Amino acid sequence: TDKMQVAIDGPASAGKSTIAKIIAKEFGYIYVDTGAMYRTITLAAMRAGLIVPGQETVDEAAVTALLPKTLIGFTPDPAGQRVFLNDEDVSEAIRHSDVNGLVSMISAIPAVRTDLVKRQRDIAASASIVMDGRDIGTTVLPDAQVKIFLVASVEERAARRFKENQEKGIDTNDTLSEIEASIARRDYLDSHREVSPLVQAADAQLVDTTGIDIPTVSANIASIINEKL
Ligand code: C5P
Repeated sequence: TDKMQVAIDGPASAGKSTIAKIIAKEFGYIYVDTGAMYRTITLAAMRAGLIVPGQETVDEAAVTALLPKTLIGFTPDPAGQRVFLNDEDVSEAIRHSDVNGLVSMISAIPAVRTDLVKRQRDIAASASIVMDGRDIGTTVLPDAQVKIFLVASVEERAARRFKENQEKGIDTNDTLSEIEASIARRDYLDSHREVSPLVQAADAQLVDTTGIDIPTVSANIASIINEKL
């Protein structure tokens, strides 16, 4: 393809979307936050009364039936990108801890993955893109020219998320140790599901951001992209 595809995968709160937005802006590529898509389906399932916090199984057919009615939209500018569920801006709603706790169950449903992977490939067909998620390099865009597997220690990821929550006023009562436990649980579930589990693609480059600041990480990834241009 003549279009550049940059796949950024990794565990929860590794900084994928922060880095992906910087790269998309710098190179003028479209940015697709695939985690936001799974979160939006999860929110729709909560609104439909199909799942409540703490629930551990779900009626998969009922969730699947929601898919055709669940349009997911993004505003084009990667900086400050907004996420829409049909006509509603759900950018904040999809970041709450209730959604964090339920999204891995929804994203493990095979029919949900098939549907969202198709939407992701359709978007990728239109332009050069940066896409972040869990299975972009392995499943969604296996031919991506650049594949990054972004990791950091769970302690550092929890500390970053705690700070971000306080700054953004999201779930400000959640303690550091609750956030760390929630991240570790989500990584476990995402890594152990049947379909497209979180795993580093054989041809992905591992980038460990523990103790490394955002400008350094994004400059490193920009140079990897520049080598492929
Ligand atoms: O990236 P983010 O943390 O927002 O993703 C939320 C959840 O969506 C993940 O924990 C995972 O369950 C699911 N997900 C996925 N495949 C992707 C992106 C996200 O299963 N490509």
